Amino acid sequence: MHTSLSCAACGLAHPIGRLQNLCSACARPLVAGYDLGSLKARFTPEVVQRRTLRSMWRFSEVLPVDAPDEAVSLGEGQTPLLRCPSRGPFARFSNLYVKDESFNPTASFKARGMSAAITRAARLGVTSVALPSAGNAAGAATYYAARAGLECYLFMPQDTPPANIIESVVGGARVFLVNGLISDCGKLVKRGCAEFGWFDLSTLKEPFRLEGKKTMGYELAFDLADAHRTTSLRLPDVILYPAGGGTGLIGMCKAFDEMQQLGWIGSQRPRMVLVQAEGCAPIVRAYEAGAQHAELFPNAATVAAGLRVPAAVGDFMMLRAVRESGGTALAISDHDLLEGVRELARWQGIYACPEGGAVWKAAQRLLATGWLKPDEEIVLFNTGSGLKYNHLFEVDDLPVLDHNDPQCLNRVLKT
Ligand SMILES: Cc1ncc(COP(=O)(O)O)c(C=O)c1O
Repeated sequence: MHTSLSCAACGLAHPIGRLQNLCSACARPLVAGYDLGSLKARFTPEVVQRRTLRSMWRFSEVLPVDAPDEAVSLGEGQTPLLRCPSRGPFARFSNLYVKDESFNPTASFKARGMSAAITRAARLGVTSVALPSAGNAAGAATYYAARAGLECYLFMPQDTPPANIIESVVGGARVFLVNGLISDCGKLVKRGCAEFGWFDLSTLKEPFRLEGKKTMGYELAFDLADAHRTTSLRLPDVILYPAGGGTGLIGMCKAFDEMQQLGWIGSQRPRMVLVQAEGCAPIVRAYEAGAQHAELFPNAATVAAGLRVPAAVGDFMMLRAVRESGGTALAISDHDLLEGVRELARWQGIYACPEGGAVWKAAQRLLATGWLKPDEEIVLFNTGSGLKYNHLFEVDDLPVLDHNDPQCLNRVLKT
């Protein structure tokens, strides 16, 4: 259980036993802290390795609960780290892995954040939650709210992937489509929370989605130890991550700092590569301009719905995380990121989301420029399943065989 909640920008401490959104002084994100010095003696990698619990809650000491059975859980986390066979366009990399977050409940990494946030909100007496979403967060919020018996109000851009809208409606959420971007949805949520008393679960405006997502960083260190058949935790040389609101990237860096304070790892860090889409790349622009904060990205448009975030409240945290790690930031076109999806599918057997496709294309580009070396240990995050984006691919002109025609298989040879 956390022992502090303080502002990421001004450091102001906030009470931990009360519902909180942004800092009461400067309206920046609040971040949970733990008494890691006291945990050190009893919370060790060996203790975690012996646990049989198959979810991210095996790290419960650094999550917002007193015990794992308090968690609102659907089995999130413990996703596979898949080593990429060196073939086709992957042949130039010798140590490439994909952490495949599509294995989560509701098929995206958003499950981790929602499990933690809804656990904490329900514990503090919340009965209805609301959030703006690009898609996957809506699906995850719906199902964790259902699991906890909470009402869930969702505000999504009108052109959100149909799969996300349908899963949310089926799961009983109150879904509202908005003729604008996720930032416009966020403004409606803010007003609705003030008027109707819902609890605002917006990313980084709620402190515990970050805590759930940081478990990707903890897990990776164990996954790589397993991959190297060692019990010593390891981090890769480079992590590539698709960033919208940035919670996953910031969360992993937080996990690495906590693991160092626990004495689990040293001071070495992976270079963090932040990947966005060319049609919405506010953080990449700010990174290139050497700025601390990002400007609103005008006319944001990309098929990678999770990356269509024109303004992020945690912009300064993402920029800090990338720079402090010696990483970089780059944007990929929609054409290229969809090609990335096809390549992951055909050469690796992974049906990735477009955000995952972007990350793979970013790795290829960084290898071509020499920023990445072919033998470096590199982890790509595939943050969700391609199944939620089936609408992006056309399969209209498939041959239909007449099974009554004895010659029908001849057509197989002709196509
Ligand atoms: C599949 C996918 N990848 C990446 C992101 C961006 O995540 P974050 O807000 O942690 O930057 C999203 C957010 O909606 C998403 O759905």
